[in-house]
Amino acid sequence: MSYEFLNVEVVDRIATVTINRPDKLNALNAHVFDELDGVFTAFTTDPLVAAVIVTGAGRAFVAGADIAEIAALDVAGLERLSARGQSVFNKIERLPKPVIAAVNGFALGGGCELALACHIRVASEHAKFGLPEVKLGLIPGYGGTQRLPRLIGRARALRMILSGEQIDATVAQAVGLIDEVATATTLRDVARSIALQVSKNAPLAMARAIGAVNDGYDRPIDDALALEARLFGSLGATKDMAEGTAAFLGKRAAQFTGE
Ligand code: COA
Repeated sequence: MSYEFLNVEVVDRIATVTINRPDKLNALNAHVFDELDGVFTAFTTDPLVAAVIVTGAGRAFVAGADIAEIAALDVAGLERLSARGQSVFNKIERLPKPVIAAVNGFALGGGCELALACHIRVASEHAKFGLPEVKLGLIPGYGGTQRLPRLIGRARALRMILSGEQIDATVAQAVGLIDEVATATTLRDVARSIALQVSKNAPLAMARAIGAVNDGYDRPIDDALALEARLFGSLGATKDMAEGTAAFLGKRAAQFTGE
């Protein structure tokens, strides 16, 4: 399938989605959201895709929601836009395959929120993170007020949200917003090597692991542990669990089929 604002390539079962609107620093307009929705829907069931990397073309990852689009919206329109962005980012967060953000530059507003929806985040040393919406008379609307405090803690998140200031990759790593800092030239290789590493693991186990973390996170601990036990148990019915344990005991590499 071809896209106007995305480049999508799949190599060795790793899909790389490059948001490609560099003249507007990859700002997210309705069309970009439609395309992200479509491609992540397709990844859900595509057996040729084991893991996904999301990155941006040019000097930005994503510089936020498209302010030109937002400026014209009234109360109902803004609420609809927020719900739309949230639903697309939920789809990314709930993809039953690992999604890695390779943050190559500005990750502001919706760009920071896109990175937050990914499962693993690496960034180039030039990347900048921020939620500048209050400078526009808005608040983060694509999950930022909820995912950021859960990731880095309420106090640090509130400081970022209320100041609207940008932080660089080193600070982002120090506060736990990203996992790793790479150079601009090694970023794609670092993201790719993480994607290749995870893509060797049992697909159904990774899907259930993502489900356990996502669905259990906000539940009371006993409920969350019960969920974990159910998902853990459900893997007993898979060929991959039989293969993974037999391979370990037989001192050989496992060959997972996703069954
Ligand atoms: N929405 C729409 N257009 C955007 C945009 C956004 N979020 N971010 C950048 N652009 C556009 C600019 O309008 C400019 O377009 P033009 O060349 O047609 O005038 C182009 O991208 C380049 O941006 P520019 O501001 O000239 O680059 P810069 O290097 O001087 O500044 C930023 C870079 C990221 C600091 C600045 O673009 C910025 O603050 N962007 C908005 C960030 C934001 O508030 N995001 C949250 C939105 S809710």
